[in-house]
Amino acid sequence: MGSLDGKVAWVSGGSGGIGSATLRRFVTEGAAVVCSDIDDEGGEKLVAELRSAGGRAIYSHCDVSSLDQVKASVDLAVSEFGRLDVLFNNAATSTGGYVADLDAEGWDHSLRVMLTAALYGMKAAIPYMIEQGGGSIVSTSSIYGLVSNAGNAPYSTAKAGLINLTRTAALDYGRKGIRANCICPGAVETPMLDAVVGMGLKSREAIADMHALGRTILPEEVASLVLFLASDESSAITGQAIPVDGGLLAGCDLTGVPPLS
Ligand SMILES: NC(=O)c1ccc[n+]([C@@H]2O[C@H](COP(=O)([O-])OP(=O)(O)OC[C@H]3O[C@@H](n4cnc5c(N)ncnc54)[C@H](O)[C@@H]3O)[C@@H](O)[C@H]2O)c1
Repeated sequence: MGSLDGKVAWVSGGSGGIGSATLRRFVTEGAAVVCSDIDDEGGEKLVAELRSAGGRAIYSHCDVSSLDQVKASVDLAVSEFGRLDVLFNNAATSTGGYVADLDAEGWDHSLRVMLTAALYGMKAAIPYMIEQGGGSIVSTSSIYGLVSNAGNAPYSTAKAGLINLTRTAALDYGRKGIRANCICPGAVETPMLDAVVGMGLKSREAIADMHALGRTILPEEVASLVLFLASDESSAITGQAIPVDGGLLAGCDLTGVPPLS
């Protein structure tokens, strides 16, 4: 028995690090899944892997900045698998720069992909979930939804907005059996972290050292939290923003006292 037996899940950013780890876990736990992304090659490859392991999975090209594409992709989950139980809003892209230097176009696109897209996902999924009597919405925020850093306004603004969109959806639809939660990862070993390290400003080791655990996080560790929130195991948890951050936000060191190692 898997914790998602008989359930159907739609995942955006499914070709990426956290998305693909989550899809693998969902399928192992019995879900039928739609992997959506704009990286068609990565998504098709993952779906072939999931199917060859006996999973029920399809790939759907979907640019989450388009309401029409999100709606068509979510509809595909229902037409292919008959229902929709889990919506995982997870795709992201962002521009950076100091606030006064940001251009409106990059700002709009970042907020569209990381914030408005979650609204699109909810608009597409919630009517099905209401009809079925419930569902679980999980959205990938970040520790940067809870705090910010220099040069990162589009990302941290979108991720913070996502947390209150999620809380509001939880309040709007809780009595319809729909739960909505955010996950807030620290530094996760995915192409996105490679890009951060590639900027050459902070080493992977320095980033790892900021976490209480003294290491970065694996996509599979994030997938465990998404699975918990997607499944009935978390049936009383809604409207939350839950860090999976290896203790990154647990403290702020002003003293220099070293942790035990
Ligand atoms: N890696 C980290 O350290 C970290 C930390 C905190 C939060 N996150 C969040 O985790 C989520 C997953 O990121 P990841 O680390 O797996 O990175 P990733 O780069 O591996 O995955 C992101 C995916 O989003 C897809 N994508 C980008 N723009 C899209 C669009 N317009 N429409 C559809 N898909 C699009 C990309 O093709 C990619 O597959 C993101 O929301 C990210 O902000 C990541």
